Amino acid sequence: MKVVTVVGARPQFIKAGVVSPVLRARAAEVLVHTGQHYDAQLSDIFFRQLSIPRPDYQLAVGSDHHGAQTGRMLMGLEPILLDERPDVVMIYGDTNSTLAGALAAAKLGIPVAHVEAGLRSFNRAMPEEINRIVADHMASRLYCPTPASQANLAREGITAGVILTGDVMDELVVRIEPVAYLLQSMGVRACEYTLVTVHRQENTDDRNRLAGILDALMKVPGPILWPIHPRTRQRLIDYGLGSRMPDAVHRLEPLGYAEMITLERYAAQILTDSGGVQREAAALGVPVYILRQETEWVELVESERAVLVGTDPLAIVDAVSQGKAKPYPLVLETNPSERIVQDLIEQYAK
Ligand code: UD1
Ligand code: UDP
Repeated sequence: MKVVTVVGARPQFIKAGVVSPVLRARAAEVLVHTGQHYDAQLSDIFFRQLSIPRPDYQLAVGSDHHGAQTGRMLMGLEPILLDERPDVVMIYGDTNSTLAGALAAAKLGIPVAHVEAGLRSFNRAMPEEINRIVADHMASRLYCPTPASQANLAREGITAGVILTGDVMDELVVRIEPVAYLLQSMGVRACEYTLVTVHRQENTDDRNRLAGILDALMKVPGPILWPIHPRTRQRLIDYGLGSRMPDAVHRLEPLGYAEMITLERYAAQILTDSGGVQREAAALGVPVYILRQETEWVELVESERAVLVGTDPLAIVDAVSQGKAKPYPLVLETNPSERIVQDLIEQYAK
């Protein structure tokens, strides 16, 4: 069996870092990097830390508007798929690289397998929501991380090829050894700092929302560690918000995975709009406040591990100061990647 895997953005490298070794033990994998993320701290570092093999193809599409970026990916992917003739194309998550992988394969009649299928925010203003819906409707095998994601697919009439595997990130989060002396080198102590990440387009590209988050950070217990995504760094400059950055915030470059998990593990609380970070926080039993109005990981909110606080400073500070999110660790799945690979073999091995 030959699988072409399409990745392009930070969370996809991390997820491929879990599934790829399991897949390569039983099948041939051809890895395509679209080049959506290209900074060393958003790309190379994950290949190195997670021992992900060098991509067989690098499309180097870079950053652009959604249509242009996705279009360049399609143009790059089509000849590769025609040449490689895989049995199945594997895609992860909900980025433009996911969408391009799904469309390029489906148009050529090649089956698509989607890891992290069925997640929905029910907010079509999010580019990720469009990507997920299209990807799921193109996919033949849909690997769902949660029962809620499986139910979402059923509501859209997708029941064939749907498998509840659990979240592949569960496997990785427990495998990572904390990075020694990291907290010390950052001048913080375990359980005495707040960790923040912000990169969602709906927050970064809206001056009021971004300013609301900064205002909230004025009153959140410090010190505050904030590894800043390049998109957010640029908007802070564009909107002239640098001067509103509270003194308690330590601005960091985007971190490698091992460093990030170390900071998540020992944080007193995490404020984030990231899908992956909210799930990891819950996995590690760290209270998490979601800087959005809705989440795809509804079970985290239902179980009070996570609280939706949006970007209104009063709502954020109120929830954090009352400790509304609870430190209940999740029960983690042990072998989602095995289930995924077993299913691929059963379906596509000749
Ligand atoms: C993308 C995904 C998002 C995912 C996130 C993970 C889409 C629509 N969005 O968002 O779902 O949660 O990745 O981090 O696919 N930039 C750099 N260096 C890079 C990459 C990007 O400086 O290596 C800057 C560029 O200014 C670029 C901006 O970040 O315009 C946004 O990058 P892009 O890949 O379009 O979206 P993300 O916000 O990273
Ligand atoms: N992450 C990281 N370094 C950082 C920020 C995030 O390694 O500086 C990891 C994080 O632990 C998680 C993944 O990147 O595994 C989440 O990616 P991101 O927040 O960019 O995207 P999302 O999950 O929202 O799509």
